[in-house]
Amino acid sequence: PMSSVYEAEDATVFHGTVDSDHLGYTGTGFVNSTNEVGAYVEFTVRMPAAGAATLALRYANGTTAGRAADVGVNGAVVSTPGFAPTADWNTWAVTRIPVTLRAGTNLIRLTGTTTGGLPDLDSLTV
Ligand code: GCU
Repeated sequence: PMSSVYEAEDATVFHGTVDSDHLGYTGTGFVNSTNEVGAYVEFTVRMPAAGAATLALRYANGTTAGRAADVGVNGAVVSTPGFAPTADWNTWAVTRIPVTLRAGTNLIRLTGTTTGGLPDLDSLTV
């Protein structure tokens, strides 16, 4: 099926900045959330029809600890990926999460649940 790329720098950011000081991001930058529990990035994803979908989250985590997050779909937490370390802040990995989306507008919110906040977030592909 066709997929769409949603750049993190175009999403709604609660506590964080759009940065471009590392290599390998797509678009014009990536989101560097504040290092705190509760920082979030929220994407608005429009679907033509309800059904199963995969959220592919491209991130970097140059630390040695996971940056776990809640993934909310339309207000309900559906997954808690660990966002394991990548080799450094220039190295991006993709975490894939199966979800069910509705027709029309879907709010996809990633909220950091550790004091590190979110990993650096490049994009969401659905
Ligand atoms: C470094 C890095 C940032 C990252 C931050 C963090 O400062 O350059 O891109 O967001 O660490 O720990 O979250």
